[in-house]
Amino acid sequence: MSRLIDRHGRTKRKLRISLTDRCNFRCTYCMPEHPDWLPRASLLKRDEIVRLAGIFVDHGIEQIRLTGGEPLLRPDLLDCVRAIDALRERGLSRLSMTTNASRIAPKARELVAAGIDDFNVSLDAIDAGTFRRLTLREIAPVLDGIDALADAGAKVKLNAVVIRGDNDEDIVPLLEWAMARGLPLRYIEYMPLDAPGHWKRDAVVPEAEILAAIGRSHTVEAQPRGNDPSTPYLVDGHYPLGVISTVSNPFCSTCDRLRLTATGELFTCLFSPLGMPLGARLREGADDAALAAQVAKAVWLKDAGYASRPGPVDRPLTMHAMGG
Ligand code: GTP
Ligand code: 5AD
Ligand code: SF4
Repeated sequence: MSRLIDRHGRTKRKLRISLTDRCNFRCTYCMPEHPDWLPRASLLKRDEIVRLAGIFVDHGIEQIRLTGGEPLLRPDLLDCVRAIDALRERGLSRLSMTTNASRIAPKARELVAAGIDDFNVSLDAIDAGTFRRLTLREIAPVLDGIDALADAGAKVKLNAVVIRGDNDEDIVPLLEWAMARGLPLRYIEYMPLDAPGHWKRDAVVPEAEILAAIGRSHTVEAQPRGNDPSTPYLVDGHYPLGVISTVSNPFCSTCDRLRLTATGELFTCLFSPLGMPLGARLREGADDAALAAQVAKAVWLKDAGYASRPGPVDRPLTMHAMGG
């Protein structure tokens, strides 16, 4: 099998597939309050997604993460999951989902049965007012969703983006809530990929400051880094905390990821200004070998990374359409 390797020697093992750019939340750090959704006809159909996913798996992708927008807004989500789960026969070893969890409660068991191994749930604050200010939506359905995932025996991690003046006061309360429930949590530095003109460097709470806030009431010990985008820590000697410090400490040198948007644009980096229109090539009738050759070429040309240009990216796609 030929593997996908870029010109900086980084082998690709993980693919994020955005199933839809639509979301029922309006997190201010992610999208404008009134987004221009991608035209519906341009979103890849289930068979198209599965065909592309299969090509990636045949070329060494071992882990697929389904993202959005919000994946639960995709009406054929369960069928998509089952079809991608079948790629385990071709080498897929992990199938994950990133979700806001607000609509997951009635589907939690079915998603686990259909093949999702683990869920990352966005929960930026445990205070209901702070949560509402950040997401423009209510926290209660999200907490119900997290409970339903736990009842279904699912593996869950929490993600929280920290923004100065918005939820930095909630760092310790959210951590203590997650610790009490045994749910691993990762704090994420605010990245410049949101509504145009919204991100400001001053609003980023760097990893060192997040750790200092926690360190005032808990012990925090650094752990050896794995292949996760987060730097791992142990809080009070037992609880696993991570910090994703893309702004203050990017992990580009070990990046093993690729991203496919809901229209089938391949982005080799979260910060690339341009994607490769793989979905359009598929719809023009390209065969699997031709599509694989296009992927290999785009991957080979992957940039060294974001570390070289930390600032807003000049492109129309915001985070919800990139898949987070
Ligand atoms: P795990 O496999 O559980 O480690 O998931 P993940 O962290 O890859 O996925 P998730 O969807 O939970 O993303 C959490 C945060 O990490 C989000 O803010 C992502 O944008 C960020 N992230 C994920 N992949 C990349 C990447 O390739 N580069 C950068 N800079 N950030 C990323
Ligand atoms: N900066 C950092 N993380 C972000 N996410 C969305 N937008 C941003 C941003 N501007 C996070 C979401 C979700 C994950 C997929 O990406 O909170 O947990
Ligand atoms: Fe929706 Fe996730 Fe973006 Fe929030 S971060 S608006 S839940 S896609």
